[in-house]
Amino acid sequence: MPRLRLLFVVSECVPFAKTGGLADVAGALPIALANRGHDVRIVLPRYRVTKKHPAKQLPMSIGVPVGRGEAWGGVWETRLGDSAARVYFLDHEELFDRPGIYNEGSGDYADNLARFTFLSRGALRLSNALGFKPDVVHVHDWPTCLAPIYMKTLEAGTPVGAAASVLSIHNMGYQGWFDKDELYQTGLGWEVFHPRGLESFDRINLLKGGIYSSTLLSTVSPRYSREIQTAEGGHGLDGALRERGDSVIGILNGIDDEEWNPATDRHLPAHFDERDLRGKAFCKAELQREMGLPIRPDVPLIGLISRLVEQKGIDIFAGALGRVLAEDVQVVVLGSGEGWAESLFKRLSAQTDRFRASIGLNEGLAHRIEAGSDLFVMPSRYEPCGLNQLYSQRYGTLPIVRAVGGLDDTVEHMVTGFKFHALEADVLADMILSAAHVYRTQPEHFHAMQRSAMRKDLGWDHASRQYEALYRLAISRQVTARLPG
Ligand code: ADP
Ligand code: GLC
Repeated sequence: MPRLRLLFVVSECVPFAKTGGLADVAGALPIALANRGHDVRIVLPRYRVTKKHPAKQLPMSIGVPVGRGEAWGGVWETRLGDSAARVYFLDHEELFDRPGIYNEGSGDYADNLARFTFLSRGALRLSNALGFKPDVVHVHDWPTCLAPIYMKTLEAGTPVGAAASVLSIHNMGYQGWFDKDELYQTGLGWEVFHPRGLESFDRINLLKGGIYSSTLLSTVSPRYSREIQTAEGGHGLDGALRERGDSVIGILNGIDDEEWNPATDRHLPAHFDERDLRGKAFCKAELQREMGLPIRPDVPLIGLISRLVEQKGIDIFAGALGRVLAEDVQVVVLGSGEGWAESLFKRLSAQTDRFRASIGLNEGLAHRIEAGSDLFVMPSRYEPCGLNQLYSQRYGTLPIVRAVGGLDDTVEHMVTGFKFHALEADVLADMILSAAHVYRTQPEHFHAMQRSAMRKDLGWDHASRQYEALYRLAISRQVTARLPG
């Protein structure tokens, strides 16, 4: 099969910048595709956090009309891991040399439209400047939705404008809303400001523009691709998605199975695999020690790692804790987000030796919680895919998940984890307690479930083949669309 030329435009990518699972995907899928022989290039901003990664400055600069002027930025290049995928950082001190990626403290950066205009159009201009002629431009979530719009308008006549475009939707809950008076930032004219373009309720909605402009759309699990076409799951854009229903495809995320491998994980005090779980027992004891919990092998240890926000059902989890902590269990939480949740978890940590929380981002601890816990909780309101339930399964930590989106697609009840339906604290408490009961009273069954979970093939191989098929379909659609008459 001929190799594809793929241009990824993303706002975050592991290991260079991360706020959530999008970065994990953007850091792993290109490697899988490059290893399959494709020519993959990734463009992202050179944020302050990105600067600590070695890269070489290219003797070029890229100019992008932004607002009433033109923003010029430098370009840095490196590789993604050991793969052949090339990464380009677009550098602009004023726009990106800041502590955050989208926001700081409580508020989004006021100039986000200018920042992501620079990234989206800058990536296309960079591709042209490099003489790289992509077959497909693959963008992700609202920050890069302007790219497919430029490909159909201001960059249409340039080499990159001939490519097909794919928009992957990782989260409908974030759409990139801006006041219409800011349209001038993008350089686009009012002809794109209509209900099948960037306009929604008389404001700019970047995700909507991306949905209508991209050749094909994907979401990160099959069930989520159906949910977002309903009023309940569409966050107001279900109508747009239904209109494009024949162009929406769900592809389950994989995981980076080198980074998340309990047999080699550099963050763990001991290693294990599905044939020998002794190392997992050691990890559990060490996690209890690290978190200041009583060191007891017999007590079920339940983990949660999450952004502490509404999407993740943290309020439901908080509501279930009273009944859960009345039993002989241990709970560890790692996360950051809404103030009320952070304070509650800190308070509980001081009140009972059945509960410990670590507030903040901590990559190593995330690995140790996955490895040392017996059970893992994800009570999400909605979940496009979810990665932690996949990491959990790989580490023999049975996930207790709400049956929505990717959680429903990736966990089999009583086989590789536990599933509940209603978004209610009591229902969650019942499920946690019954999973703890299985742990205590049916160890053989619990071990069989752990082994089934650990044996699953969760890597990127399958998904990267599906993306390949998606790209080829997008290319053929794009060719058809360009045929005269
Ligand atoms: P989302 O992208 O919606 O936050 P995902 O489950 O797809 O959800 O991905 C979350 C990613 O962020 C996982 O890799 C998870 O381990 C990581 N993560 C979340 N919170 C923390 C934290 N406090 N410290 C370290 N890693 C975290
Ligand atoms: C989003 C979603 C999450 C998904 C991740 C990567 O952040 O909330 O469910 O796993 O993107 O696709």
